[in-house]
Amino acid sequence: MSEILLKTENVFKDYRLGKTIINVLKGINLEITRGEWVALLGASGSGKTTLLNLLGTLEKHDSGEIFYENTRFSKLSSRQKVFFRCRKVGFIFQAYHMLPELNVLENVMLPGMLESCARRELKEQATELLSRVGLTHRLKHRPNELSGGEQQRAAIARALINSPELVLADEPTGNLDSVTGEEILKIFKDIHSASTKATIIMVTHNENIAKLADRTIFLRDGQIVTE
Ligand SMILES: Nc1ncnc2c1ncn2[C@@H]1O[C@H](COP(=O)(O)OP(=O)(O)OP(=O)(O)O)[C@@H](O)[C@H]1O
Ligand SMILES: [Mg+2]
Repeated sequence: MSEILLKTENVFKDYRLGKTIINVLKGINLEITRGEWVALLGASGSGKTTLLNLLGTLEKHDSGEIFYENTRFSKLSSRQKVFFRCRKVGFIFQAYHMLPELNVLENVMLPGMLESCARRELKEQATELLSRVGLTHRLKHRPNELSGGEQQRAAIARALINSPELVLADEPTGNLDSVTGEEILKIFKDIHSASTKATIIMVTHNENIAKLADRTIFLRDGQIVTE
């Protein structure tokens, strides 16, 4: 039997801009099994990034509940959320969120440093991941000295440094040419098929990439439409 890793029950999320209320998510019901690779599609502005932020505890839902195994997100303290993100989740953001004052290698090592991993081991892992994304020649560069695609690849390496069991990826191949995009998809295939099979939720606008996933879900009018 497949184990449910992540579940949302009737999740709602609004944003308020002055007097305007935007109902972004309107009753999201979702079950994701451990080790599953899910592609999340939907028009621009449909709430894909918002949903990833909720699933990664970066933002709070307004009502309903999100469960990770038996943990209820609404019951977690800020500190528990930090632990959860640090131990379990690898984020690949739509905007890369690299720290400008750190070089590429240090940026990739950062999540591991927060987990107080051994520095030498961390450096080896970070170097290895950066080589897998084709950035061996850019280790000492700062993010503003990289192209958009290079920053994206560095962000992917950083997301994988703690061997997360849940990878939340917001258009990870969006800024990449097709060759580099293929390389990145290969990394996703690897982490998906490794013995410690990562669960992946990946936003993409690309139907071909979506086909690699075990399942595709669509966000429409603030709700999930399964196909
Ligand atoms: N912090 C915020 N404050 C107010 N409105 C927001 C905020 N973040 C997002 N929104 C609005 O919520 C809606 C959903 O945004 P979201 O970023 O989740 O869409 P998306 O599906 O990721 O779009 P894209 O494909 O363009 O990245 C949009 O209308 C957006 O303008
Ligand atoms: Mg988005």
